[in-house]
Parts: sequence; structure tokens; C-alpha cells
Amino acid sequence: MITARMEKELNAQIKAEYESAFIYMSMAAWAHKHAYFGTANFMWKQAKEEEEHAMKFVDYLKDVDGNIEIPGLAKPEGSFKSLLDIFEKGLEHEKYITSRIHNLVTIADEDGDYATSDFLQWYVSEQVEEERNFRDIVKMLKMVSDHANGIMMIDSKLGAR
Ligand code: FEO
Repeated sequence: MITARMEKELNAQIKAEYESAFIYMSMAAWAHKHAYFGTANFMWKQAKEEEEHAMKFVDYLKDVDGNIEIPGLAKPEGSFKSLLDIFEKGLEHEKYITSRIHNLVTIADEDGDYATSDFLQWYVSEQVEEERNFRDIVKMLKMVSDHANGIMMIDSKLGAR
């Protein structure tokens, strides 16, 4: 049995994960429009993963007989300056999600909620990977600066995801 505040926070996290999906879909649409097809592919797949993250929370709430609230979502930003802009924003967003997950772990510990604490460990590890993925791409994009060949090479690599 989870506490009322944990139930509320897990529902808020479902919303945050779907918002992540919307943000990455918006980035995918921008990238496609600007012929960065590799980045578009990367971001569509990232959005799909975020939906899976959300659904894992939904399934967990079902397991513990919690209430599930389907959230309303805000329209995400749709205009970006460059690929670097996209991935820097993605990295900042992932850091925000990490801080949210860590806060959930803190609440689970405070509530003596060992089951939710154990469930959340998957997300703790996943966030290390999520931040790393975005950080590596930001580093590569900074390395090539505004050289078109380098940018196209990175975009092509992202298409292989
Ligand atoms: Fe669901 Fe990208 O964190």
C-alpha cells in the first residue's frame, strides 16, 4: 500500500514522462522539417521510450491498487535554433527528470515505502544513461561547432539509433 502523497507524486511523474515524450516529439518534428533526419529518428524513438517510462508508472500504480490520473499536457516549445540547442535543452530536461526521480526516492524512504523505493531504482539507473546519451551528443556537437560536414555526420550517426 502506498501513501497518499506517494500516489500523488507518482501520478505527477506520469505527467512528467508524457511531457518528456511531447517535448521530444516536438524536437523530432522540427528536425524533420529542417532535414536533420537522423535526429528526427533519434527523437521519435526517444519519445516512444518516454511513453514506456510513463506506462511503467501506470502499471506500478495498478500493482499497488493506486488511483491513476490521466494528465492534461501543455503544448511543448516548437521552435529551435540548432541541433546543439535541441540537445542542450534535452540534457537540461533529463537533469530535471533525474531530480524528480531522486525526490521520489527520498519520499519513499521517508514513508518507509520499500516496494516503491525498489521500483524506482530502475529509473535511477535509467537517468544516468539518459543524461549520458544527451551529454555525449552535446559534446560532439560542440566539437564540430558550425561545420556542416561534422553536423551532418553526427546527424547520420543518430539515424542509426
Ligand atoms: Fe523518462 Fe528521459 O526520462
